[in-house]
Amino acid sequence: MSGIYLRELGEADMALVNAWRRDREVTDLLCGPFRHVSIETDVAWFRGYASSRASATRLAICLRENDRHVGNLYLLDAQPIERACEFHILIGDRAQRGKGLGKEATILGLRHAFHDGNMHRVHLRVLAANTRAVSLYKKCGFTLEGVLRDAAFKNGKFLDVQLMSMLRDEFDARHGNG
Ligand SMILES: CC(C)(COP(=O)(O)OP(=O)(O)OC[C@H]1O[C@@H](n2cnc3c(N)ncnc32)[C@H](O)[C@@H]1OP(=O)(O)O)[C@@H](O)C(=O)NCCC(=O)NCCS
Repeated sequence: MSGIYLRELGEADMALVNAWRRDREVTDLLCGPFRHVSIETDVAWFRGYASSRASATRLAICLRENDRHVGNLYLLDAQPIERACEFHILIGDRAQRGKGLGKEATILGLRHAFHDGNMHRVHLRVLAANTRAVSLYKKCGFTLEGVLRDAAFKNGKFLDVQLMSMLRDEFDARHGNG
C-alpha cells in the first residue's frame, strides 16, 4: 500500500501553503516568478478556488502514518472537450524529498485525473534545470514534447522550460488501469 494519500486542500492548510510559497528554495524550482504572498492573499485565493472548482482540483499530499501534510498536487485548467489538464506537484517539506513520495503522489494524481476525472491527456511545464523533477516525470512515463526557450525568468536569468505530457493509454500501459 502507498505511504501517502491525497485529499482536497482546505482553508486550514493555508498557513503551511503560504510558508512554502514564501520559501525561495521551493519557488526557485517552479516555473512561476517569486512573489511575496501574504497569508490574507492566500486565504482569499483559496476561497476563490473553493467557490469555483469545476476546472481545478487542488489536493494535499499526506503521509498515511501520521496524516502530515507534506506537499500539494494540482490538476488545473481541465478542458471538457479535449479532456486535458495541467499537472503541478510540490513536496514542500524538504526532509520528505527524495524518498519516493513524489513518484507515489504523481502516480496517484495521474490515476485520479485519468480514472476519476476521465482525462485523456495530462501535461506539465518544468524548468529544464530542475533535474530531479524532469527525472521523476520521465520515470512516471511523461513524454518530452518540446522546449520553450527562455520562457521563465528566475533570479535575474531567463531559463528554458520543458513541456511534457502523458496520455491515458500510456498511463494504463505503464501503471495499470485498475
Ligand atoms: C520534484 C519532486 C516532486 C520529486 O519528488 P521526490 O519525492 O523528491 O522524488 P522521488 O523520491 O519520488 O524520486 C523520483 C525520481 O526523481 C529522481 N530523483 C530523486 N531524487 C533526486 C535527486 N536528488 N537528484 C536527481 N534526481 C532525483 C529519481 O529519478 C527518482 O526516481 P528513482 O527513485 O526511481 O530513481 C520534489 O522533489 C519537489 O517537490 N521538489 C520541489 C518542487 C518541484 O520541483 N516541483 C516540480 C515542479 S515542475
